[in-house]
Amino acid sequence: MSAQPLAAVPDLAAIQSLARADMAAVDALIRRRLASDVVLINQVAEYIVGAGGKRLRPMLLLLAAGATGNGPRAIGNHAHQLAAVVEFIHTATLLHDDVVDESDLRRGRRTANAVWGNAASVLVGDFLYSRSFQLMVELDRMEVMRILADTTNRIAEGEVLQLLHVRNPDTDEGAYLRVIERKTAVLFAAATRLGALVSADSVDPALCEALHDYGLNLGYAFQIADDVLDYASDAETLGKNLGDDLAEGKATLPLIHAMAHSDAATRACLRTAVEEGDTDALPEVLGAIRACGSLDYSRARANAYAAAAEAALDGVDDNEYCAALRGLARYAVSRDH
Ligand code: IPE
Ligand code: IPE
Ligand code: MG
Ligand code: MG
Repeated sequence: MSAQPLAAVPDLAAIQSLARADMAAVDALIRRRLASDVVLINQVAEYIVGAGGKRLRPMLLLLAAGATGNGPRAIGNHAHQLAAVVEFIHTATLLHDDVVDESDLRRGRRTANAVWGNAASVLVGDFLYSRSFQLMVELDRMEVMRILADTTNRIAEGEVLQLLHVRNPDTDEGAYLRVIERKTAVLFAAATRLGALVSADSVDPALCEALHDYGLNLGYAFQIADDVLDYASDAETLGKNLGDDLAEGKATLPLIHAMAHSDAATRACLRTAVEEGDTDALPEVLGAIRACGSLDYSRARANAYAAAAEAALDGVDDNEYCAALRGLARYAVSRDH
């Protein structure tokens, strides 16, 4: 499969500057609403939130609102609040994910589980989840709550589905795509749909659908790119350890492709590496991935999803926010962390 033609790597700084004032408001809201009188909650939550992260999901929500609403009121208080909600949900999943994946590096710092242990990470993750519910209920909009309830439920299903595939060398591309749709893409889709939904008093349902489709495809692209980076980046740039996926026995797209396209002896070696979650086999795995062109294949798949994300915006008014969303689709697949 050949890579889709995509325009040049976008200027992320320019995209961020478009949403700068709104993102500052969202960040202030996140900090304010993290608070609890239980000291350990503040410590752990401040630790992971303060480490930064790209804040991509809240930014997508704000840009989706700007792309679909009319004029300066398109990005209002509801958009700010929901942007904080999606970042809380994302952060909760990261706290849980690092426990499940036994990861010890995140956002360039030791993970919360490495510092405070698994129990604290899981419980503070639960705190952030439930705090996000408190924030969304404040808006008193049933449609918003329905979308977020369905989304968080799907994410949980995705994580469990992924668990079922751990150390399973028969995981194929179809199974992989079903996992990443739920664990990653649905939250992107919810963010962009919600941005559209709250951008005006009455929004054309077709516009909400278009922004949903954009987010969903972007989410696939983003997760495939993440799975490529796990084999192709370095820990300092990525802020996470390389080879984490293999260590967990997680067969992601590069490895799935290599298993399907290697000779019998190499395939047997790759299957054993997945079954045993064996990082000692990383050099052989990297060799096979290189020999099979599996990173290029995976990047091409990610590019195809990014192109589909852009295509979903075709019926949307081409204002500067829409252009920023197009830029983010390209950023998702060209990023280095
Ligand atoms: C990490 O998401 C989890 C995945 C879906 C791959 P991000 O790469 O958006 O994490 P932060 O928020 O920037 O740290
Ligand atoms: C993304 O999967 C997990 C979530 C959606 C929470 P990964 O396990 O690949 O994410 P990283 O690489 O640890 O950030
Ligand atoms: Mg992980
Ligand atoms: Mg990863």
